[in-house]
Amino acid sequence: MNVDLYERIWMWGVGVMLSLFFAATAYSAVAREIHPPSHVETIDPAQSMSDPRFAKQGLWTDRDGNLHLTVMAMMYTFLPQRVTVPAGVPITFHLTSRDVVHGYQVIGSNAQAMVVPGYVSQFTTIIPEPGEYLIACNEYCGIGHHQMSTTMIAVPAAEFTAPEAMDNPFTSHAGGH
Ligand code: CUA
Repeated sequence: MNVDLYERIWMWGVGVMLSLFFAATAYSAVAREIHPPSHVETIDPAQSMSDPRFAKQGLWTDRDGNLHLTVMAMMYTFLPQRVTVPAGVPITFHLTSRDVVHGYQVIGSNAQAMVVPGYVSQFTTIIPEPGEYLIACNEYCGIGHHQMSTTMIAVPAAEFTAPEAMDNPFTSHAGGH
């Protein structure tokens, strides 16, 4: 079969690109261990306010002494409205939305997640310094999106009194792979 030289160059070019894309995917999966989230915890958005995991929002301690923060996002606010946390201490965040997709960003820290109805978004991080942080929704969610914000107060860890310990109602464990 006679293939025009010009066409042949394009075929080889596409072949090289496909190999590069595949190699990049293989490299991130194998060498960098970057994988899509697995064992994602789900929730019924219509029942989320009465779900035992989200019935009470705010800061809590698990039986091992780790801090957790449970947050409910909705048009156009976050619950709890204002939360005090210790600076420099790992906190595991558990978030869900009872209506549409929202964003959760603690500006000035690396705490950020997309909050999707039907799913529990979970991650562990620290709030770096004591101070007042603005928490903003960074996914467009409707007419009141620009007003969807709240405040986090980070106090020095020595001045912080941990909340009473309770059983962890979440099944997945954030922080690992
Ligand atoms: Cu919620 Cu934008």
